[in-house]
Amino acid sequence: MLKTFGKTHYVSELGPSMKDQSVTLTGWVHRKREHGGVIFIIVRDSTGIVQVAGHRGQMPDVVFDAMQQVTVESSIVVTGTITIDKRAPTGIELKVTDFQIINLADSEWPLEKDAGEAFLYDKRHLYLRSPSQTSIMQIKAGISRAAHQFFDGEGFTEIFPPVMVGASVEGGATLFPFKYFGSTAYLSQSAQLYEEAAICGLEKVYLLSPSFRAEKHRTRRHLTEYWHLESEILFGTHDDIMGVEERLVHAMVSYVEKHYQSQLKILDVKVRVPKLPFKRITYDEAVEIAGQQGFTVRWGEDLGTEAERAVSKQFKDPFFIMGYPTAARSFYHMPDPARPEVTLSSDLVAPEGYGELTSGGQRIHDLDLLLERIKNEKLDPSAYDWYLELRKFGLPPHSGFGMGLERFLVWLLRLKHIREACLFPRTPSRIQP
Ligand code: 4AD
Ligand code: MG
Repeated sequence: MLKTFGKTHYVSELGPSMKDQSVTLTGWVHRKREHGGVIFIIVRDSTGIVQVAGHRGQMPDVVFDAMQQVTVESSIVVTGTITIDKRAPTGIELKVTDFQIINLADSEWPLEKDAGEAFLYDKRHLYLRSPSQTSIMQIKAGISRAAHQFFDGEGFTEIFPPVMVGASVEGGATLFPFKYFGSTAYLSQSAQLYEEAAICGLEKVYLLSPSFRAEKHRTRRHLTEYWHLESEILFGTHDDIMGVEERLVHAMVSYVEKHYQSQLKILDVKVRVPKLPFKRITYDEAVEIAGQQGFTVRWGEDLGTEAERAVSKQFKDPFFIMGYPTAARSFYHMPDPARPEVTLSSDLVAPEGYGELTSGGQRIHDLDLLLERIKNEKLDPSAYDWYLELRKFGLPPHSGFGMGLERFLVWLLRLKHIREACLFPRTPSRIQP
């Protein structure tokens, strides 16, 4: 426990068993009302809210005056005695014995109850304090921790690749260029190519790092900067990597269900721990299901958001769509030897229209085949010199995947828009605050 400003407890530590005990809290004035000589203040800290009450005449005048003067969102230190009161929001009320204002807020808190979404994100620096946003950020920390624990438990080594890069991984159109001492460099879209180098020493690696996409999409699923959880395994097949993905997702959801019930309650969502193994369908089957739902997908093209949504409505848990057409996938995907027009790759798709959670699959480890694919995609082989050289020096078959942490959170918490999953979202129309 930090003794900062005399704080003895966090709000979440208070319980009925502490009746008559004196505690000191620090936090913000969440709400305030005055009723017949009594001031009721809802105090909020990072762990929850609690009601504190001050009665005129039953406390020193200076203390009562401070409670009277304080405005919403001021920071305060309050000391009081715990009482049980069914009328209080959490069944507990602090009878105030001391109340100090640390930083008095302006009297006009700008975030009204009916503030529009755009305004809330203009004021993201203030909106972040609300219990719903705090809960989302706490759960985001939780899924990150669960992922680290999962990979650690399975013997993966965490790596720390660069974010400034010289060539594209996922196609040049979505690169952000910047000046780099007289030449052009880019913000990374994916650390996959670096992972493929790292596995030759480390065998199983993972990372969590920002990725950038210069996509002008204005959708509920696209960011221009997001946190990318990526992993790569040596001597691993497409089947092996799907196994890693489903165990990871299972571990992340289970962790949130186990440790974040109070946050889930604030957000009014229940998480459903998915059943292992996840269902697997082929791209061909997905095209057929989409067709039955009235969405025509020409074989060879990406499924598209609407068709993918229609397919995903048939599922309750995340599921894999396997065997995407080679022409619709990035250059590094391994064509299926038995049917080269499709790849040994898959997307893990969330149910009920929440969209793609991961993309993964087996990579091409053969030098000539990779060169052919690079040329077919009209990429410049010289930009991939070092990546190609790995194939000259004993790179075995290997597989990997990437997951957008915010995409995962949108599905897990049923968020209306991906920006809610970000501390300070970056989209085509937002780089401030
Ligand atoms: O499907 P993507 O483009 O695949 C790759 O980047 C691979 N190189 C990853 C790998 O195999 N190591 O991106 C991977 C995931 C997507 O499934 C999605 O979850 C997320 O990254 N993602 C985005 N999230 C938010 N906004 C965007 N614009 C995103 N683009 C991709
Ligand atoms: Mg993808």
